[in-house]
Amino acid sequence: MEDELLALQDEAGVELASVVDNNALEQFRVRYLGRKGLFSGLMRKLGQVAKEDRPRLGKLANEIKQNLEKAFTARKEILSRQGSTDSAAFDLTLPGRCYPFGKLHPVTQIMDEICEIFAGLGFGIAEGPDVETDFYNFEALNIPPHHPARDMHDTFYINDKVLLRTHTSPMQARIMENNSPPLRFIAPGKVYRCDSDITHTPMFHQVEGFLVDHKVSFADLKGVLSVFIARMFDADTPIRFRPSFFPFTEPSAEVDIGCVMCGGKGCRVCKQTGWLEILGAGLIDPEVFKKVDYDIDEYSGFAFGLGVERIAMLKYGINDIRLYYENDLRFLGQF
Ligand code: PHE
Repeated sequence: MEDELLALQDEAGVELASVVDNNALEQFRVRYLGRKGLFSGLMRKLGQVAKEDRPRLGKLANEIKQNLEKAFTARKEILSRQGSTDSAAFDLTLPGRCYPFGKLHPVTQIMDEICEIFAGLGFGIAEGPDVETDFYNFEALNIPPHHPARDMHDTFYINDKVLLRTHTSPMQARIMENNSPPLRFIAPGKVYRCDSDITHTPMFHQVEGFLVDHKVSFADLKGVLSVFIARMFDADTPIRFRPSFFPFTEPSAEVDIGCVMCGGKGCRVCKQTGWLEILGAGLIDPEVFKKVDYDIDEYSGFAFGLGVERIAMLKYGINDIRLYYENDLRFLGQF
């Protein structure tokens, strides 16, 4: 009898240790501590043992029962602290929880796409400072002191000689002065102008591009931009070069594409013209080459500058540029 009691105590201890949920705990209670359980069964045998052994065995049985009940209660507490659920309530077939994860901003996506297209054409990628000097932003680009772009209304000045760059074109001069031709580069980045309405924000993004080599002609510029536009938009997107003026290119042009909204028929977006302007370009003005000591009889080149937000707006059909900078996740999540 004594051996049986001690064996039961050991067996119950081992089993209790492997109990991990409330169901198993209840099964344990019924099996060992229940009215018809193993322990009660043994107690009933107590009447059959010799009279003189009964008090000792009775005391031992009581101790073992108390120990088992204590261990049972302790286990129950541990399980409830672990927040154990009934195994029936735990549905393994439920799908996992989705955690939201971030995405690239639409402007970044378009910028990456632009860089990829030009990298595929052999252009290197360079970045320069947002805080620029008057020299690189204006002087080196043949923009004289009286030029309207230098007005306080258009440019954020930090002091007389330092400003936030108003375009990415200073990178032409920066790259040329530190390298010799042939050169093929694009320079993506932020630019700043004192301007704010539905088509202008004080900060926006441009990608500058330029190429310098022997005998570079307007045809080369046209070829490169045609490939870019075909890859960025549709292969058969109509393109038109319109004469224009920039102090740092000669001749200069603005490039339009057939309106992506109406297919050229004329609509509100293209102001009934059927065309949308997407970039400025031209052959690099010899005055710019002189500033970086390039031989103007040896070298020629082209340059272009495109507005990233503008291209993203056309590609995605967005009519208010400010949407890009309100950081509304319902808007940003769509790209
Ligand atoms: N920098 C000009 C602008 O911001 C664009 C441009 C770049 C034009 C290169 C010609 C050549 O409007």
